[in-house]
Amino acid sequence: MSINELRDKHGRHIHKLRISLLDACNMRCLYCMPEKQVFMPNKDWPKADELIYMATNLVKQGIDEIRLTGGEPLLRADFMEIVHGLDKLPLKKFGFTTNAIHLKKHLKELKKTNCQYINISLDSVNRENFHKITKTDSLEVVLEAILMAKELGFKVKLNTVLLRGMNDHEIIDLIDFAEDNDIEIRFLELMKIGVVLPVFDKLFISAEEVINKVKTKWSLESVEMPVDSTSFNFKTNSGGNIGFIASESRPFCGGCSRLRLGADGKLRPCLMLDDGPSLRGLEPDQFYPFLLKVMDLKPHTRINELIQPMHQVGG
Ligand code: 5AD
Ligand code: SF4
Repeated sequence: MSINELRDKHGRHIHKLRISLLDACNMRCLYCMPEKQVFMPNKDWPKADELIYMATNLVKQGIDEIRLTGGEPLLRADFMEIVHGLDKLPLKKFGFTTNAIHLKKHLKELKKTNCQYINISLDSVNRENFHKITKTDSLEVVLEAILMAKELGFKVKLNTVLLRGMNDHEIIDLIDFAEDNDIEIRFLELMKIGVVLPVFDKLFISAEEVINKVKTKWSLESVEMPVDSTSFNFKTNSGGNIGFIASESRPFCGGCSRLRLGADGKLRPCLMLDDGPSLRGLEPDQFYPFLLKVMDLKPHTRINELIQPMHQVGG
């Protein structure tokens, strides 16, 4: 077990790590991917061994939760090798965020590991609309994977980014789908990141507005959440569990407990900061002073916008 507790100068307990395995994706979500994207060459991705070495040393210093992201993490052929390597670490929570196109084929093997927390992006339950947003025809495959993951007992959450005029008419259908299958669904406010910037005002919908819509059909009861939770959640009167990640209208930087390891090997202090010192080539005894340095760079209040496209950041 880790003996350290990492605390930054604002008293925030830093214990969660996001690892972006690559910047490429097999969807083209309109709020994430630029039309002409340039992906890193595969040879520049940190190799499985290197990632496992970095993560092992970060865990020794106090990280106890890991989530793998991308781009789309399942596009890495060595995804399971990475999972098996990280599976040996003493983690309280281990999971990944995926668009679920390639999820089904991994579920059986994943079930034998501690990697049980799967967040799946689902912006629409309507085939045409799903295509409009993600530019892929994979709604069916994604829904099947969601149901199979749930059936196998994984801790599944759905993430929905709501966009005015695109999928806000599906709020009730999305909640119904989640509730029918006993899955938590979280509505994410659109963030001012990358390609969204020029059209942000047109597409943004606040959590408050969504809550008011939900209340026309359900009554909501607040659920107690951990201090560093990014979402605030409600139970509906019919037993559903709905969360809101209101990054824009109710930023949660004051309770932030996360660091992000980019596919470029840099440890980012914050989602909204396009840089951080590189973790590559560190000796084990260099990790602690390195972490102190990165934590010092962690902003305490919300940075307004980020120009870098989201697929390079990882959710
Ligand atoms: N605002 C909010 N969420 C976003 N995501 C990607 N881009 C944005 C954005 N601009 C979400 C994806 C996925 C998670 C990794 O981040 O939909 O659920
Ligand atoms: Fe891919 Fe996720 Fe970006 Fe969509 S939001 S293009 S699924 S990385």
